Amino acid sequence: MKLLAGKAVLVTGAARGIGGACAVALADVGARVVCADIDSPQSTVEAITISGGEALAIACDVSDEGMVTALFDQIREQAGSLDVLVHCAGVMHKKPLLETETAEFQHVLDVNLTGTFLVGREAIRMMQSRGGRVILIASDLSYLGRETCSAYVASKHGVLGLTRSWAREFSPDILVNAICPGPIDTPMLDADNMSPQWRELELGIPLKRFGQPGEIAEMAVFLASDKARYITGQGIGVNGGSVMP
Ligand SMILES: NC(=O)c1ccc[n+]([C@@H]2O[C@H](COP(=O)([O-])OP(=O)(O)OC[C@H]3O[C@@H](n4cnc5c(N)ncnc54)[C@H](O)[C@@H]3O)[C@@H](O)[C@H]2O)c1
Repeated sequence: MKLLAGKAVLVTGAARGIGGACAVALADVGARVVCADIDSPQSTVEAITISGGEALAIACDVSDEGMVTALFDQIREQAGSLDVLVHCAGVMHKKPLLETETAEFQHVLDVNLTGTFLVGREAIRMMQSRGGRVILIASDLSYLGRETCSAYVASKHGVLGLTRSWAREFSPDILVNAICPGPIDTPMLDADNMSPQWRELELGIPLKRFGQPGEIAEMAVFLASDKARYITGQGIGVNGGSVMP
């Protein structure tokens, strides 16, 4: 029997990067996966169905309350229940503070923090009668400051705050954890266009390499499984040693 056989899972940000890898990995261990993204997650759904898995694509901007409500209406209709949320949707913002417009700062908070609130709240509503797992994607920058990234860093500190508070509020039925990745080789990191100075900063960590999206997905599978039944309220670093809290 597969590790997550029959479990209904929602992965946001599933069109690519960490979310895409999580959706594929969760389907590989038997989960039925709803793939949501502001871009089309169809290629992820195809990758899953070609390997014999079950998946469904739904378009959703996680910062738009109406779209999030519609997403969960569709999940209720088509999947019936929800056992696990893996919330990966997010945006990066890299600009010196003194050049940052208020609207840019607000957009990062809208997607990364309010989006987590909206999706997490609906997921927990659906999970309340049967229990479940909420897995948020925070960052190693949930623990650190980073020059020219303050909006992003603030949003990711907030995600860890939601994790710890929800873990207490919904214990013991719903376990809430965050994965805190280090630099992971995805379109967001954009390693090919990185300046040499920034590359040196990102790679100045004990393991001296970028992580792969699949290495985050392996942690998501573990946290979604019964093997993680005594873990809640944690920010779990999968970060090449970038942070040792
Ligand atoms: N790559 C890294 O180095 C790294 C490190 C730490 C944390 N993270 C976090 O991991 C998560 C995934 O990042 P990634 O590296 O895979 O980035 P990515 O840019 O490759 O993928 C992000 C996905 O989120 C989707 N998305 C963006 N805004 C959205 C919105 N409003 N509604 C719905 N979907 C939206 C994008 O379309 C995309 O498919 C993010 O929360 C990111 O902050 C990434």
